[in-house]
Amino acid sequence: MAVSIHLRKLTRRFDRGPAALDEVSLDIRPGEFLALLGPSGCGKTTLLRLIAGFEAPSAGSLAFGDRIVASESAFVQPEARNVAIVFQSYALWPHMSVGENVGYPLRVKGVRGSAQAQKVAEALAAVDLSGFENRRPADLSGGQRQRVALARCLAMEPGIVLLDEPLANLDVHLRASMEETFRAFHRRTGATLVYVTHDQAEAMALADRIAVMERGRILQLSTPETLYAEPASEAVARFVGHGHVADADLLLSPGDGRARVRLFGVEADIRCPAGLRLPSGRRGRVCLRAEDLEIDRADGFAARVLSSTFKGSHSRLVVEPLAAPGTRLSLHAPSGRAEGESVRIGIRDGWLLPDTVGDAQPAPRKSLAVEAV
Ligand SMILES: Nc1ncnc2c1ncn2[C@@H]1O[C@H](COP(=O)(O)OP(=O)(O)OP(=O)(O)O)[C@@H](O)[C@H]1O
Ligand SMILES: [Mg+2]
Repeated sequence: MAVSIHLRKLTRRFDRGPAALDEVSLDIRPGEFLALLGPSGCGKTTLLRLIAGFEAPSAGSLAFGDRIVASESAFVQPEARNVAIVFQSYALWPHMSVGENVGYPLRVKGVRGSAQAQKVAEALAAVDLSGFENRRPADLSGGQRQRVALARCLAMEPGIVLLDEPLANLDVHLRASMEETFRAFHRRTGATLVYVTHDQAEAMALADRIAVMERGRILQLSTPETLYAEPASEAVARFVGHGHVADADLLLSPGDGRARVRLFGVEADIRCPAGLRLPSGRRGRVCLRAEDLEIDRADGFAARVLSSTFKGSHSRLVVEPLAAPGTRLSLHAPSGRAEGESVRIGIRDGWLLPDTVGDAQPAPRKSLAVEAV
């Protein structure tokens, strides 16, 4: 049975340094697939360990449904939480066969004999490993080992499954095929899934919602689509989807979710939060993605082609706006261009980053647009 997870100002401090998890409040819905995305050290594993009960919070509370599992006055032991964890290192017992590994949590629950064998066979079938019962983990590929770890999870029938970078040790091709395995796994268990990754493409492909973390806090929690189209801050824009961030003059924003800006010497209409009304004369920053830019538009800004790479269906160009030397923007073009060629680039769309809107007439600032890699 899937359960909801509720964090209230959940905090974990270690001896020194800032809090590893800093007053995080978060509601995860029953059966939701939530991804935690963020750079190394931002607190992802700490959050999972708190949910699993391997760590106790320094402050705040944690509840599954309406049952408090950790607070100042309560602490439910990990084995009583019905939470399963899958690590990047698989954590299979090397001396046990695949069947024994998958059957272990059942044995602990007192399920034995043919009932156990049947559940093991079902779990292995679900991850496409029927007939692997007698193999040893050492005789399996990395992807197969990870599927055994998932099968062990399935056999437990947990309400909550925590996955800590489960694909980090696998090569790119295997990762893509494992994504489908995870989706099927989620459908099958119906469990509430919290999936840690620092690969944003993986998070986008799998999750219902993504929480972007930085320094022990959640910067933004939203669907992959919203996160990509409407990052709440410059930090999120740079982290997600390779967004370029460029300085712009704000000319008009009447409150209807559109803003007129001047960018690289031309005017453009972009998106901004609905209700945002600004007097002209302010500056702000705009998130521009490759698909927001269009080559050969007469009303576009002048730029020079730095590189052109054939990608099959299109060419990927990197250009430098003449108005902002040092800035690199990438975009897709139907055909390749010569290096050094002069082009005009139209701005089809963009997103005004709400946290960057400054006061009227700030000190002139050099454009800091960079390409996130
Ligand atoms: N047992 C511990 N003792 C002291 N500090 C710790 C401990 N565990 C984690 N930390 C610190 O807490 C912070 C968050 O660590 P955490 O492991 O949660 O990061 P993460 O987001 O999982 O990073 P990564 O992507 O590298 O796995 C880090 O600064 C880390 O050094
Ligand atoms: Mg970690």
